[in-house]
Amino acid sequence: MESHRELRYIIVLLLVSLCCIQGRLEDPAVGRSPVKTIRTEYGDKYDCVGLYEQPALRHRLLKNHKIQMRPSFDPQRDNANPTGNGTSDKSIDVALPDSCPTGTVPIRRRSTAEVSRAKALFRQQFPSFNKSTKNLLGFAFAGITTRYEPSTVYYGAGGMVSINNPAAINGQISSSAISLEGGSPEQYSIIRVGWMVNIDLYHDNLTRLYAAWVQVTNGKQTGCYNTYCPGFVQTDTAIALDMPLVPVSVVRGPQYYIKLSVTQDKSTGYWWLNYGDEEKRIGYWPSSLFTDLANGAPGLRWGGTVSSSSSVLPQMGNGDNGQYHSAHFRHVKLQYGAGTSLNGTIAVTLDVMQNKCYKSGDNYYKGEFWGYSFYFGGNGGDVTQCSY
Ligand SMILES: *[C@@H]1O[C@H](CO)[C@@H](O)[C@H](O)[C@H]1NC(C)=O
Ligand SMILES: *[C@@H]1O[C@H](CO)[C@@H](O)[C@H](O)[C@H]1NC(C)=O
Ligand SMILES: *[C@@H]1O[C@H](CO)[C@@H](O)[C@H](O)[C@H]1NC(C)=O
Ligand SMILES: *[C@@H]1O[C@H](CO)[C@@H](O)[C@H](O)[C@H]1NC(C)=O
Repeated sequence: MESHRELRYIIVLLLVSLCCIQGRLEDPAVGRSPVKTIRTEYGDKYDCVGLYEQPALRHRLLKNHKIQMRPSFDPQRDNANPTGNGTSDKSIDVALPDSCPTGTVPIRRRSTAEVSRAKALFRQQFPSFNKSTKNLLGFAFAGITTRYEPSTVYYGAGGMVSINNPAAINGQISSSAISLEGGSPEQYSIIRVGWMVNIDLYHDNLTRLYAAWVQVTNGKQTGCYNTYCPGFVQTDTAIALDMPLVPVSVVRGPQYYIKLSVTQDKSTGYWWLNYGDEEKRIGYWPSSLFTDLANGAPGLRWGGTVSSSSSVLPQMGNGDNGQYHSAHFRHVKLQYGAGTSLNGTIAVTLDVMQNKCYKSGDNYYKGEFWGYSFYFGGNGGDVTQCSY
């Protein structure tokens, strides 16, 4: 009798400690008993969590959010199917090795330490820029941007970007992305999608798919990478935001691409992230998260962004800044008004941004295979020379 009770006591103790160890190691946002867990060859684990249990919905603005499973109307599809020789003409279609059951979505399992690290890194890598304080040291962008026109907003931006694996070490990130932005230095909104190498975050140097959103209001920043904070509502069951992208392009060899676009559903205002040749919808950001992306985006940019907390900025793109072998975007697209695509016939002014260390250019419509395309990148170097 006595030993029986003792045993029960021990079991309870064991359960309590298990729960608490679990609580300490796993991000509580995802720690709820997953329906299924998908493991990848890279050592990542994805938990299939209920649509309404995903971290996105913990945002105070999304308390009674009703998840939309598809846009109210189809974003304009790209039906052109160009063919070319020598290099892959399609985007790669990476997905997890398995799908989550219907009604659940894959969220990468991460420790609470990783979540805190992701938040701290995000504040460092997406600081609240204040142009008057010149805190752009340690950051650089090369690529193309739409020139601001007070009466023009964009309802979508997309393109195919070559997948590269730039050398970036601890303290540095290197990314290639499409951004939708609006606002002033005091208050602004950004959605950014693409790939990045971020060793501090993942503890590996793989090229991973990512998405980020930022809202700065009165100098206070919210937002994060992927699903490290509430905001991005995942709807796809097999494409995860932080997946490694393979194969990687070879300089002067075969090129591989990822095709991404972000389009606004004009009836709900939600910004959908579309992926691959079939434009599968990964999920969306409700427009209530943003002050300056409620009805269209005032500005767009495509290209490479790098940052560093040390005295050296890393490679951008594939490290090359020669026109013919650099990282590049193909089929750059944008939508405004009734819906149009950028193919060389539309009167949108695009500016090329580059600096001493990172170059961009050759931006024009090149026909069916390339669409509107441009190159970007560079080898990096001293922050005082290479920043913005
Ligand atoms: C691709 O190569 C084949 C065989 O060499 C040729 O017949 C075809 O016209 C080429 N296609 C393009 C788009 O260049
Ligand atoms: C990535 O890390 C691996 C293993 O540490 C290393 O062999 C490789 O050179 C690194 N790649 C780059 C681009 O730095
Ligand atoms: C930007 O910096 C200037 C000068 O330090 C300061 O006066 C201003 O309040 C800052 N603005 C924000 C939004 O932080
Ligand atoms: C560009 O797109 C417009 C509208 O879709 C179309 O009318 C035009 O023919 C296209 N131009 C080229 C060069 O493909």
